Amino acid sequence: MSKTIKETRICVIGLGYVGLPLARLFSTKFPTVGFDLNQSRVDELMSGHDSTREVEDKLLQEAINKHGLKCTTNLEEIKDCNFYVVAVPTPVDENHNPDLTPLVGASTTVGKVIAKGDVVVYESTVYPGVTEDECIPVVEKISGLKFNKDFYAGYSPERINPGDKVHTVEHIMKVTSGSTPEIGAYVNEVYKEVITAGTHLAPSIKVAEAAKVIENSQRDINIAFVNELAKIFNRMGIDTQDVLEAAGTKWNFLPFKPGLVGGHCIGVDPYYLAQCALRHGYNPEIILAGRRMNDGMGEYVAEQVVKLMLKKGIQVLNSKILILGFTFKENCPDVRNTKVIDIYNTLKEYNTKVTIHDPWANAAIAKREYSVDIHNELPTDKYDAIILAVAHNEFKHLNLCALQIDNSIVYDVKAILNTDVYDARL
Ligand SMILES: NC(=O)c1ccc[n+]([C@@H]2O[C@H](COP(=O)([O-])OP(=O)(O)OC[C@H]3O[C@@H](n4cnc5c(N)ncnc54)[C@H](O)[C@@H]3O)[C@@H](O)[C@H]2O)c1
Repeated sequence: MSKTIKETRICVIGLGYVGLPLARLFSTKFPTVGFDLNQSRVDELMSGHDSTREVEDKLLQEAINKHGLKCTTNLEEIKDCNFYVVAVPTPVDENHNPDLTPLVGASTTVGKVIAKGDVVVYESTVYPGVTEDECIPVVEKISGLKFNKDFYAGYSPERINPGDKVHTVEHIMKVTSGSTPEIGAYVNEVYKEVITAGTHLAPSIKVAEAAKVIENSQRDINIAFVNELAKIFNRMGIDTQDVLEAAGTKWNFLPFKPGLVGGHCIGVDPYYLAQCALRHGYNPEIILAGRRMNDGMGEYVAEQVVKLMLKKGIQVLNSKILILGFTFKENCPDVRNTKVIDIYNTLKEYNTKVTIHDPWANAAIAKREYSVDIHNELPTDKYDAIILAVAHNEFKHLNLCALQIDNSIVYDVKAILNTDVYDARL
């Protein structure tokens, strides 16, 4: 089979944080259709607006009006494509086991439309083996076509960082791979057309899958280490940030900061790797220890705040506490798997009155997913304790004095406030 990029017609399946920026970018060089199951998401996008704020409305409208990007829920409109890119979620279930349901669903969709000679490339984060052992058999079964004879596959993990307007998809080097050396080269050529930062062609799909899942697992473990340091130094009355700043002057000291690890990547992907290790008879101690440490940080922060209040003689029962920020990270509206909820729930156990202010979070989604009320506008009340939980730009120069009762506590989880503003930081 020999394919040329000139005849490539792309369909991106799953138009979320990953799929939409990719579809927009591909549309600048290739005929591109975006497919999603969610009709209201498709309607929103075709009206020229992206509620995830990953693609600016102007760019999205340009992609639609100038480059002909079409978003649809209709299978008929993607049948003509010959390069399918799958970017659907890869969550874990309540027992932290990988939930491949969306991937199987998207593979079923691909199976219905894929034709001889076509290629399907998976972008969703998985453990090594998911593409060839779990997804491809579904495509084969539904299409009746034979893998690596009638159709081909690739894997190219996504590395975007939501809310980051510098490291956007085209500016991040992309790992590519293919089910045969020839397909690997073709997949790599297609991505090279749009990724200005360049591409790295991995020797196999499994290598590319493994590369992505270890990137996020490494980050999780490094953050877990500094979270552990924060717990140790806090007991000793030493400021962790000062220690990290001093240690960071060594050329090979890694600049990680303590904090909450939420979202659906770093807090989830290590479980994919851990499950895969267990299936191969290996008990992944370090990976799971990192997960345990990071998953406990919300509760830890809340308990530190309660301790500080008690030390200052502030009555905890019925006290008013303000949490600044609810999203899983700064300058991004995504509240999935936010660990701020752990701070909130722990404080509620002490019968405190907790208010959450977040100018970015979608209040309706937060209410539906977590049963909490989010105030998008800054409250005018005064509080016994204020916890800065997310480093949104809006919080960097906030006048916290206006929100404080006399000797109230300010706890800076993100270490962004000046020393004269906070009582303690993580
Ligand atoms: N968000 C990130 O920062 C990020 C970064 C790198 C990698 N990833 C990985 O990329 C993948 C996608 O993540 P995301 O954040 O874009 O997810 P998302 O939830 O923002 O978007 C997924 C989209 O897929 C749609 N969808 C679900 N099942 C579908 C199906 N069967 N067919 C068609 N559409 C379907 C949903 O309606 C949604 O619009 C995940 O594996 C994630 O781990 C995410």
